[in-house]
Amino acid sequence: MIGFLGPRNEGRSAPVAFEHVVKRFGAVTAVDDLSLDVPDGEMLVLLGPSGCGKTTSLRMLAGLESISGGQIRIGDTVVNELPPRARDIAMVFQSYALYAHLTVYENLAYPLRVRKLPKAEIDRRVRDVAGVVQIGELLERKPKALSGGQRQRVALGRAIIRRPAVFLMDEPLSNLDAKLRLHTRGELKRFQRELATTTIYVTHDQAEAMTLADRLAIMDRGILQQVGRPKEVYAKPASVFVAGFLGSPPMNLLDVRVTSVAGSPGLEIAGTSIPATGSLGARLGTLAPDQREVILGVRPEEVALSRETSGDRVPGEVFVVEDLGNEILVTLDLGGQFVMARMPSDYPAEMGDHLWFGFDSERAHLFDTVSQRRIE
Ligand SMILES: Nc1ncnc2c1ncn2[C@@H]1O[C@H](COP(=O)(O)OP(=O)(O)O)[C@@H](O)[C@H]1O
Ligand SMILES: [Mg+2]
Repeated sequence: MIGFLGPRNEGRSAPVAFEHVVKRFGAVTAVDDLSLDVPDGEMLVLLGPSGCGKTTSLRMLAGLESISGGQIRIGDTVVNELPPRARDIAMVFQSYALYAHLTVYENLAYPLRVRKLPKAEIDRRVRDVAGVVQIGELLERKPKALSGGQRQRVALGRAIIRRPAVFLMDEPLSNLDAKLRLHTRGELKRFQRELATTTIYVTHDQAEAMTLADRLAIMDRGILQQVGRPKEVYAKPASVFVAGFLGSPPMNLLDVRVTSVAGSPGLEIAGTSIPATGSLGARLGTLAPDQREVILGVRPEEVALSRETSGDRVPGEVFVVEDLGNEILVTLDLGGQFVMARMPSDYPAEMGDHLWFGFDSERAHLFDTVSQRRIE
């Protein structure tokens, strides 16, 4: 589909490395000791809540912000002191500034005209890229005659036409409506694969991150929390923060007490003690004898609700039922602590029903109350 670039982008794509990178704004440490390797051709998604340091990290890589400490490499080159133009990167932002007085064609051609490419070469590349981002019929229009989605495609086209070594994208889909965002997300993933150009994509949207990423890097308050493939991070979040940030609805996190039930390890959940079997018991066995409190994590899709107990369940009362059409969300009040369950849409549950909360002990997560880190 993207013939003009060739399968490996003519070898121009390059790996990126952050090495102990720090950014301070006065007393604020926006990025704190960031070390992160992005291999050549990877789509890395930097994910975290607003203010966690995502944009600052990208801007340091782009050369738009000075670096307070550490090093950034693109390929073999330390770029700390290189001006933005010498870094061979292209950026797409949330607010995609197009040249209002130029047609779509001229907006796309602009980066190539600056580089003084021959006219025929420019024309060929503009038409190829317009095909890729599907704006071939819009080439003669001015930006004001385009929808938000069309403008975003022009901005993407203008970034890829330059064949940079690295793409940087900062929440590029957040101005689109929900339907267009899903559509463009799929296209973006597709042409990132085809271009095979190293891409660092910033978002606060965990669903966008999960679907786009080859690997995720999750940040909180300037500190990198975990890096890994989306499935791995989802299955084994390294901290309470990551556990609560990935997944919608998020993981249920319960404050529980470590007890013993008939001489074996057990958990006291909202006043009810249940045995901790299998690997859950083994994990509890690794705790220091005086550690009596832990955080238990159960994803909403892993919650088992039932009308009866077999001694390993916790009683609760249905607080609310939310119907999503294809499934329902049942929130159970365990006596001050709440758990949410994703259930089939025909599951019979009404507000006020008495149900029992259970979970698969092999798939349950445990976290240290103090360090907030995962207990393996
Ligand atoms: N130019 C600046 N001056 C002072 N503080 C800044 C500046 N830019 C960002 N910050 C602060 O750095 C932190 C990280 O910001 P940012 O990188 O924009 O976060 P994100 O993109 O994850 O929302 C925030 O606390 C923000 O207020
Ligand atoms: Mg930002």
